[in-house]
Amino acid sequence: MANVFVNINDLSNQELLSMIHQALLFKSGQFIPVINRQVVANLFFENSTRTATSFQMAEMKLGYQRIVIDPNKSSATKGESLEDTLKTLKAIGIDTIVIRHSLRDWYQPFYEMAGKEVPKLVNAGDGNGQHPSQSLLDLMTIVEHFENFVGLRVRIIGDIYHSRVARSNAEILNRLGVEVTFSGPKEWQDQSLEQFGSFVDIDKDLGKQDVIMLLRVQHERLTDEENQDFTIDKYHEDYGLTQDRYRKLKSNAIIMHPAPVNRDVEIDSDLVESDKSRIFQQMKNGVYARMAILNSLTIPSLISGVGK
Ligand code: CP
Repeated sequence: MANVFVNINDLSNQELLSMIHQALLFKSGQFIPVINRQVVANLFFENSTRTATSFQMAEMKLGYQRIVIDPNKSSATKGESLEDTLKTLKAIGIDTIVIRHSLRDWYQPFYEMAGKEVPKLVNAGDGNGQHPSQSLLDLMTIVEHFENFVGLRVRIIGDIYHSRVARSNAEILNRLGVEVTFSGPKEWQDQSLEQFGSFVDIDKDLGKQDVIMLLRVQHERLTDEENQDFTIDKYHEDYGLTQDRYRKLKSNAIIMHPAPVNRDVEIDSDLVESDKSRIFQQMKNGVYARMAILNSLTIPSLISGVGK
C-alpha cells in the first residue's frame, strides 16, 4: 500500500513516468480527480512559499479537507517529539501529513508506521536531504520540453552540498539516462554525488548542455565564516548564469531553478524571464505534480506501488 512519498528514488522508473503523465493530465484538464474528503495537514518547520502554497492549492483542487499547523504554536515548542506529534495527529483523524523539516531523513523512522500509527507521509523537504516533490515537478518540466530523458545533458550549478534539490535530482536523472554534471565552489562539492555525475568547470561544454539547473546559495545552512567570506559579485562572475554564458547555450537549452531566486547572484536578473527560462513554469507545474503525489497516496491503484 502506498503510504509514503518521501524520497523520489523509492519510485521505479515506471511509477515515476506514470506520475509525470498523471501530473500532465491534471495540467491539461483531461483528468478530473475523484474528489474525496480525506483530511490533509501541512506542517512546515522551515519557511516556504512555493511548496507550501502549491501543496495547499493541490489539496483544494483534489477536494481534501485541509489543516495548516503552525509549528511555532504547536507543542513541538514544548519538547514534544516528531513521533509523538505524528501519532497525536493520526489519533485526531489526520489521514495524510505534508512535512518540511530541517532534520535530514526525518521520515526514516516512520516508513513502517505510515498510514497505521502515524498519518501517510509526504516529504516537502528534509534539510539538505531530499525534495521529492520538487524533483517530480522538475522532471515534469523537462518532459514538457524534451519528451524524454535518455541522452540529455543536465548541468547542476551552485551550492551543491547544501542543496536537497541537487541531491534528489542527481540520482534520479542519472537513473533515467541523463548525463549529469555539477559545477560550483570547490568547498560546496559533495563527493557522495560523484557516483551520479562529475564535478566540472562551469564553462566546460556549457554549449552542449540541454538543461542548466541553477541552485540558490543556501545561506541558512552556511557557517558564519562562509557567509562572511561570500561576495555576490564574485559568486555571480564565477558561478552565475551571466549574459555571456547565456549566449553560449544551445538554442534548444532550458534554464531551471527551484527558486526562490536571488536575482543577479546565481542568475542575471534579466534572464529569469528569458525565452529559455522555465522557472515560473516549474512553479506552475508544482501544483499538478503535487496533485499527482497526493492522489497516489489516496488512490494508489492509479499508480501502483508508489512508496513502500
Ligand atoms: N523550491 C522551493 O522549495 O521553494 P520554497 O522553499 O518557497 O517552497
